[in-house]
Amino acid sequence: MPTTPGREAAGPAPAAPGDGPFLSVTDLRVRFTTEDGPVRAVDGLSFTLERGRTLGIVGESGSGKSVTSLAILGLHDPRTTTVSGRIRLGGREVTGARERDLERLRGNTMSMIFQDPLTALSPYHTIGRQIAEPYRKHTGASKRAARERAVEMLAKVGIPRPRLRAGDYPHQFSGGMRQRAMIAMALVCDPGLLIADEPTTALDVTVQAQILDLLGELQQESGTAIVLITHDLGVVAGAADNILVMYAGRAVERGSAAEVLGAPRHPYTWGLLRSTPDLDSDPDEPLRPIPGTPPSLLAPPPGCPFHPRCAFPPRVAGGPGRCSAERPELPEGRGAACHLTADQQRAGWSAEAGRAGATGSASVPVPADGGADLLRKEGDR
Ligand SMILES: Nc1ncnc2c1ncn2[C@@H]1O[C@H](COP(=O)(O)OP(=O)(O)O)[C@@H](O)[C@H]1O
Ligand code: SF4
Ligand SMILES: [Mg+2]
Repeated sequence: MPTTPGREAAGPAPAAPGDGPFLSVTDLRVRFTTEDGPVRAVDGLSFTLERGRTLGIVGESGSGKSVTSLAILGLHDPRTTTVSGRIRLGGREVTGARERDLERLRGNTMSMIFQDPLTALSPYHTIGRQIAEPYRKHTGASKRAARERAVEMLAKVGIPRPRLRAGDYPHQFSGGMRQRAMIAMALVCDPGLLIADEPTTALDVTVQAQILDLLGELQQESGTAIVLITHDLGVVAGAADNILVMYAGRAVERGSAAEVLGAPRHPYTWGLLRSTPDLDSDPDEPLRPIPGTPPSLLAPPPGCPFHPRCAFPPRVAGGPGRCSAERPELPEGRGAACHLTADQQRAGWSAEAGRAGATGSASVPVPADGGADLLRKEGDR
């Protein structure tokens, strides 16, 4: 499990007086109408992101990460999808914007890269043309200037002999190079916001690290705000400033990367960390997957949506029935949506890490009793 977050920065960058955050999402709800009934894929999600910062959104498959990114880009089909809440980008309202305005924003102000570049790249056009076209469309540059810009972008993302390779078709590129080409395409108009949805999932570990490094370098140059979406806490460990953990369409924990990875507070985050390998893991020690499966969003469980998979309801003040009846809210700022007390949440990871024989984070020493005492119910002591 990742225990040493790579970025030191905690909390958002200071904004100039009067500046709001670059991206702000407030009470986002996305509901699909299906034959089986309404699917509440995102259910009251709020977060903010500043320029030059990376927010990691983490959660198992089906937790609503991609649906969130498509909502920000305004890409849901209005015939089958109801989107409510508020999305503001660079001081402009995205929710309710006309399709024509959204098209202008996409590529120009906000852009996206996906897990599989082949779904985004056309097999029939050269890589160079596919990078040049959006540049021409959004800036009105000449064909020649756009071609030059495409070559410049390919060089920037580390494609060797970029002028020559601009004439290649996607199938002539390796998986890692295709992902680099897609990053070039996404950043060609210098968008303020880049949404990277599982950008490295299809790549081997070495190429994964190269792509994340590249995103970090490009961000340093241009101050892009990045939403990095992944099911893999190892990916956000070195790349994100802040982390939002999602479960069943809701945010269940939020904090700086150092806080969430070093001293996680939500039992679901503990489970994610326990099931994530890292370089320090003992290869002989089995990873411990979270038992059970994520709930159906057609009929999510009442109360805390994690309760059918959680081992901690008996520790909650008021008894386990509270977890299945009362939905815990995520507090503002650093925190977790869980009925355990703040002390129990703090002690919980120490106990978990102690049980797993893990080292924990340098900032979270594992108590001699593994923190178990704090997790005990009042009556147990
Ligand atoms: N167009 C759709 N119609 C109905 N349900 C959908 C649609 N798109 C996504 N969902 C459901 O929404 C939930 C969240 O999906 P998604 O955001 O893709 O998850 P992930 O976190 O893996 O990216 C899933 O249960 C998925 O089945
Ligand atoms: S509220 Fe209850 S079920 Fe939900 S995570 Fe906390 S202890 Fe577990
Ligand atoms: Mg997804």
